Amino acid sequence: MKILVTGGAGFIGSAVVRQAIAQGHSVVNLDALTYAACLDNVATVADHPDYAFEHADIRDAEALARIFDTHQPDAVMHLAAESHVDRSIDGPGTFIETNITGTYTLLQAARTYWSAQGKPDNFRFHHVSTDEVFGSLGATGLFTETTPYAPNSPYSASKAASDHLVRAWGETYGLPIVLSNCSNNYGPFHFPEKLVPVVILNALANDPIPVYGRGDNVRDWLYVEDHADALLCVLRRGALGRSYNIGGHNELSNLELVRTLCALLDEMQPGSVPYADLITFVQDRPGHDQRYAIDASRIQDELGWTPSVTVEEGLRRTVRWYLDNQSWWQALQARDGVGKRLGAL
Ligand SMILES: NC(=O)c1ccc[n+]([C@@H]2O[C@H](COP(=O)([O-])OP(=O)(O)OC[C@H]3O[C@@H](n4cnc5c(N)ncnc54)[C@H](O)[C@@H]3O)[C@@H](O)[C@H]2O)c1
Repeated sequence: MKILVTGGAGFIGSAVVRQAIAQGHSVVNLDALTYAACLDNVATVADHPDYAFEHADIRDAEALARIFDTHQPDAVMHLAAESHVDRSIDGPGTFIETNITGTYTLLQAARTYWSAQGKPDNFRFHHVSTDEVFGSLGATGLFTETTPYAPNSPYSASKAASDHLVRAWGETYGLPIVLSNCSNNYGPFHFPEKLVPVVILNALANDPIPVYGRGDNVRDWLYVEDHADALLCVLRRGALGRSYNIGGHNELSNLELVRTLCALLDEMQPGSVPYADLITFVQDRPGHDQRYAIDASRIQDELGWTPSVTVEEGLRRTVRWYLDNQSWWQALQARDGVGKRLGAL
C-alpha cells in the first residue's frame, strides 16, 4: 500500500513510518514539524526509495490537495495532532485548530481525492485516537468501543470532536473510515516533556522527579512499537466504519511506573543514592482523570492482535534507549516549554 501518514515526525507517527516501510509499504510522511517533531525519528528510513517527506500543515487545504494529487495514496493514517494534555490546559486554541479544524480539512481533502478516484471501496482513512475520549474510570471497569464519550481535558475534547467528524464523514459521505483508540504509549523517541522521559531524564540529571498529586492515577501502558503494529493491522484488516480499542493490559499507577523506572536506572546506571529518593509530589493537574483501562477484546477476537512486549521488557528497552541516545533528547530539551511545569493554572 502507499500510505499517507500525518504526524510521522512525532513519537507514534515515526514508529508507524518505520514499521510500515519495514513491512514493505510506501510511505508519504506529512508533518508540519511543530515543536514536538523530530526528523531524526525517521532517519533510518529517510533514504529509502519508498519513503517521501512533505512539510505541510493539515490545516492547509491547498497543500493537502497537491499532496494527494502528487502521491495518489491508497490510505491515510492520521496521527498529526497536538498531543500534550498540560499544553492543552495552558493554550487550548492550537488543539482546537489542529485536532478539530485540521482533521476536518484533511477529511475534506481525502474525500475530494477519493471521489475523483471513483470512490474505491478499498481506500482507507484511519483516524488514530486516544482512550482519553472516554473520560475517567473509577477503581473498576474498562473502556469498550461503546463506552460513551466524556472527555475532560481540552486535549481529549478536541480528539473526541475529531473522532466524531471522522465517523460522520464515513456515515454521510461514505468515506471508507476506520478508527482506533489507544492507551498511553511509551518507548524510544518519546518527546522529553511526557511522563516516562521526564522521569528518566530528571533522574539522570539528579533533579527532582515530579509526580502529580499522590501519584495514584492509573494508566494502561503500551509499548509504542506494539501500537504501530496494531495500527497497521487495523488499517489492513479492520472492518469498514469500525473502531478498535488498543491497550497493553498493563495497568500501573503513576507512582508504580515512576518507581519501576527508578529501579531500572538503579540497575543500569546506578547513582550515589537510589533514584526514587528524587521523587517529589507536586500540585495535581486540573481535571486529572483518575483511571484509564482498555478492554481490547475486539481487536484480539476480530483481528487476532495482542501486544508482544510486556511492560517490564518495554520499560527496560526504553531506559536503555534513553541511556544510549543522549544527543537525541539533549537537542529537544532546549525547545520552548520543555522542562517547565505546564498546565498547573
Ligand atoms: N502518546 C500517546 O500515548 C497516545 C496514545 C493514544 C493516541 N495518541 C494519538 O496518537 C497521535 C500521535 O501522538 P504522538 O504522541 O506521537 O504525538 P506527538 O506530539 O509526538 O507528534 C505529533 C506530530 O504531529 C505533527 N503535527 C502537529 N500539528 C500538525 C499540523 N497542524 N499539521 C501537520 N502536522 C502536525 C507534529 O509536528 C508531530 O510530529 C495523536 O493523534 C495522539 O492523539 C497518542
